[in-house]
Amino acid sequence: MTISIIVAASLNNCIGKANQLPWHISNDLKYFKKLTTNHCIIMGRNTFDSIGKALPNRVNIVVSKNEKLNIEGVVVRQNLDDAIAYCEQWKHQEIFIIGGATIYQQMIEKANKIYLTRVATTIENGDAFFPELQAKEWSLQSATRHEKDEKNEFDHIFETYIKVSSEPIIYR
Ligand SMILES: NC(=O)c1ccc[n+]([C@@H]2O[C@H](COP(=O)([O-])OP(=O)(O)OC[C@H]3O[C@@H](n4cnc5c(N)ncnc54)[C@H](OP(=O)(O)O)[C@@H]3O)[C@@H](O)[C@H]2O)c1
Repeated sequence: MTISIIVAASLNNCIGKANQLPWHISNDLKYFKKLTTNHCIIMGRNTFDSIGKALPNRVNIVVSKNEKLNIEGVVVRQNLDDAIAYCEQWKHQEIFIIGGATIYQQMIEKANKIYLTRVATTIENGDAFFPELQAKEWSLQSATRHEKDEKNEFDHIFETYIKVSSEPIIYR
């Protein structure tokens, strides 16, 4: 099973400000919907609060330490291992880690793939950030550029990375 991170980040790796996305890019929302529909999505409690509802046609899993948290249409788990284990029963090929910053930070080592929308702007006073990708750990597989227009506030690039194998290559 593939564990995929999906994220949109500015040139300075900002992903959020005051628990909101710092931009409106309709194209990216459609891309997110297309990729995640019919899959499991795992998110932190702040990200759920920001979205405000379970996203339709997906298995929504929210992680929170709050054992009393009970949200309609959402599976709550107290840690990320339990969230992943819950997803495994669905036998989907791909699990999507959809944020926010604390969840990306904890899952980047375990992820196999990253769908990164690079938003061509620098956000000042952001308060949520994506980790800097290490070139030796991640290999760029594809990049598709889109220009800003009335529905898309900034130019943006859909980039796909896969984890560079940490297994040693044995030559015979
Ligand atoms: N640009 C993007 O692609 C993107 C995507 C998603 C989110 N965002 C932005 O990111 C920001 C939110 O990120 P954030 O870092 O503040 O919050 P977050 O990661 O969404 O949620 C943090 C909360 O998740 C729970 N949590 C985290 N790790 C846990 C663990 N190991 N076990 C159990 N619970 C755990 C805790 O909830 P409790 O406090 O309830 O215990 C914690 O307070 C917002 O600005 C949002 O708009 C951006």
